[in-house]
This record gives sequence, C-alpha cells and structure tokens, in this order.
Amino acid sequence: MGVVASAPAKIILFGEHFVVYGEPAIVLAIDKRTYAKAEKRHDESLHLRSKNLNLAGCFEKENFKVEQGDAREARLKLEPIKLAVEKVLEIHGESVGLNVEVSSTVPVAAGLGSSAAVAAAVTAAVGALLSEKLSKEDVFRISYEAEKVVHGTPSGIDPAISTFGGTLLFQTDTGFKPLNVKNDVPLVIGDTCIERSTRVLVAKVRNMRERYPHVVKFMMRAEREIVLRAIDALKGSDLQTLGDLMNLNQALLYGLGVSHESLERLINAARKAGALGAKLTGAGGGGCMIALAENEKVEQVSEAIQRAGGRTFTAKKTDEGVRIEQA
Ligand code: PMV
Repeated sequence: MGVVASAPAKIILFGEHFVVYGEPAIVLAIDKRTYAKAEKRHDESLHLRSKNLNLAGCFEKENFKVEQGDAREARLKLEPIKLAVEKVLEIHGESVGLNVEVSSTVPVAAGLGSSAAVAAAVTAAVGALLSEKLSKEDVFRISYEAEKVVHGTPSGIDPAISTFGGTLLFQTDTGFKPLNVKNDVPLVIGDTCIERSTRVLVAKVRNMRERYPHVVKFMMRAEREIVLRAIDALKGSDLQTLGDLMNLNQALLYGLGVSHESLERLINAARKAGALGAKLTGAGGGGCMIALAENEKVEQVSEAIQRAGGRTFTAKKTDEGVRIEQA
C-alpha cells in the first residue's frame, strides 16, 4: 500500500523576476494539481517515474539506470525528485527503498510551477509513508532545496504557494503573507506550448540588471508600486484597475527581455477580444500568459487566444496547498 499526496500549481499575478531581487509579488494557487505516489520496496533502491514526461529510472547508491526515455534527460529531470526524497530520508534517519511515481494535470516548463508542485507532493507523500510528521514549513524547506537544483537561484515563491496554497503576497526577506481575496479572479490561461528554462530567463534578467543597474532599479520601483496597488484592487475586486496593472507589469517584463513573440501574440489577441489586462506568467520566454476578463467576456477572450495559436484553460484559485490524498 502506498501514500498519495498532491500539491497545486500556481499563477504569478504580479512580480515574477522582480521577486528574485527582493520585490514583492502576488501569487495564487490554482485547481490544477500534481500527484505523487510513494511505496516501500524490499530492497534499498529508489525507483522514480514521471508519467507525464514518460521518464523513469533507478538510483542505487551513486549509480543511475534509466528505465524509460533518454538516459541523460531522465537523470536530469528525476534528480530534484531524488533530492526531495533524500531530504526526507535524512529526517527519517535510515535508508529505505522506494517507488515514487508522479503524475500531473499541470503543463511542464510552462510557468505554472510544475516542478515545485512535484517536489512538494513527493516530500509530503514520502514523509507520510515513513510516518514522519512533517509540518508545512518542513515541506516548504525541502521543496525549496529541490527547486534550487532545477533553477539555480529561485526566490522560493513556487514552493511556498505549492505548499501553503491560497493567495500570497510573497517577498524573499519578509516571507509571505496570505491575502484575503474573497471573490474569484476570472482568468483565462493561454499556453504557447513553447517550453523554456526558468534558469536561463532568470540569468537573462540578471545580465540586464548588471548592464543597466540604474534603469532596472527604476523598473523595480515601478513594479513594487504595481504590486502595492494590486493588493487593494484584489481586495476590492476592482477588475478594471487589476487589468491596467497587469498591462503595466507586462510592459516591464517585456522591457526586461523575458517576453516572447508567441506570448505577445496571445496577449494582444486577448486584449483585442476585450480582456481587461493580460501578461505573461512565470519566467516568460514561452510558457503561459494570463488574461483577466469579465465573466461574460471569458469565452470570447479564450477563443481569441486559441485563434492566435494558444491552448487555453480556465483555472480557479484554491486555498488548498499540499495535502495527503490517500494514506
Ligand atoms: O518557474 P516559473 O516559470 O514558474 O517562474 C518562477 C518565477 C521567477 O520569478 C521567474 C523565478 C523565481 O524564482 O521567483
């Protein structure tokens, strides 16, 4: 018998990239989840499988043996899962052989935080299987460690939202604060279906900041102002202002060089079809964009994004962070 845990994907409403440099960001968990199933083995090896990526492999001491897919890719993509498992085994204090399988309704490498959701779900599943009482803080800390393997210098926003859920105001130095957002935020998500690397895009921004420190400093200040205004707009369900702020945020991200022609196409199509605002979400360079639309315009905005080549889905915010599904 195994244990199944799940964790939600996320949408960054405001502040991606700037958050890496200490600015605040607003992020919400969505009702698309990643699932991890963990079960004990009779030997001491660690068998990992990602159903969506069609990759599987076995780690035994320092050796890796591929079981499905390309060996290099499998090792690279399964490494953060292994790291999360090892951190839980460290707490457990003895080595245990495990099968861990992850499956997801979240598109991969699309800006929706799939890797952090995987890490949080795996940590919780293995913790529960080994009867370790992990707090949400423990799950966050371990998935953050795993995220560092994937992204280099992540802000921690993805593991925080996948662990705690809800709508968070996140800042690297002060941590996060839940925002009490009562009404739904009607968003259409458009996926360009172009995979990209968060690590590469974060490095691109770092380079821009090093070359133009004074310009980027003012962009950071503008972003902070956008986030502060957005908190009030969210609490007051002022969709018009939220839309304007999303467009302003997109202009800054475009300026930093992290948009992409495929994203611009979907963003423009959404705005033309009556969206109140639209922007990329996550690291950019492909991946997903989000459009805010009044309920009666959601359908036409979604169709316009599809005509422009995007794959769309609607998502609702969820308060549920990481959780055990089946023990
Ligand atoms: O990995 P993504 O696409 O969900 O983006 C993460 C958000 C960034 O601000 C770009 C990076 C970070 O660590 O905060």
